Amino acid sequence: MKLGLNLSFAIKRWLGGDAMAHIVKDELGLDIVQFTWDLVDPWWPAEKRDPIAREYAAAFRRAGITIESTFGGLASYTYNHLLGPTPELRALGKEHLKRAIDMTSEMEVRAAGMPFGSFSSADALDPSRREAIYKEAVETYVDISRYAKEKGLETLYVEPVPLATEFPSSATDALRLMKDLNAQTAIPVRLMVDWGHALFTPLFGEQADMDYWMKTCGEYIGAFHIQQSDGLLDRHWNFTRDGIITPERLAEFWKRHKLADQTYFMEIIYPFEETDEHVLADMKASVALLRQAA
Ligand SMILES: [Fe+2]
Ligand SMILES: [Fe+2]
Repeated sequence: MKLGLNLSFAIKRWLGGDAMAHIVKDELGLDIVQFTWDLVDPWWPAEKRDPIAREYAAAFRRAGITIESTFGGLASYTYNHLLGPTPELRALGKEHLKRAIDMTSEMEVRAAGMPFGSFSSADALDPSRREAIYKEAVETYVDISRYAKEKGLETLYVEPVPLATEFPSSATDALRLMKDLNAQTAIPVRLMVDWGHALFTPLFGEQADMDYWMKTCGEYIGAFHIQQSDGLLDRHWNFTRDGIITPERLAEFWKRHKLADQTYFMEIIYPFEETDEHVLADMKASVALLRQAA
């Protein structure tokens, strides 16, 4: 398994390039990461934001760590972005992603991504509003892809989410979006499929099945988020906990589908009140379990 680390586990704890590189490389023994926008906020003024972002990138490079992509985290996910209810909110969503692309470019990272967007409750229940906002969002994203190409990015990612009020959630939604986007975008757009989202049983029922996702939209899956879950909520637990996504299941899937490049990014989110000592020990234990299963 090609194992990588989304840096969500570390937010507010280990700040700065050297501290983070030490945790990733020396403590956890990993050398591929996905940099979360929860460490550097794309909305910070560029002249203050970019030196901080570049410092992470430089320290990681010195330590031999590859940043495969940057990705929206908890803060970014709070907002509706491209599927918001008003033109003003949707325009701010576009600006958000463009600013994240600017930051990614400053870090000399070649890919960035986030979920696509969230409808308001009222819009989610109105098929014609959903469709109109969706179509506009696709056009906006195509425009963003041209901007990303100008900034030197090579891939954009969209992460499906386990809510019917957002888009895409199901594998068929994800396939539709990939086809609509890739017919027009300046650079390829791929899916970042999160195991804990795809296996969310209350929404997907029998289609909460990774083989079904592979069959439906596998050709567009660029990488995965992995996390432990009970399938009842989007838990983002670590693999030290019992649940439905065991390291053995991940390894079996990896081998059977002959995956090679589609990094498994651990996306573990701890309660803020959990101690730093526990988080580090738990991350180490989990990496060991994944390595053992691989
Ligand atoms: Fe995720
Ligand atoms: Fe999630």
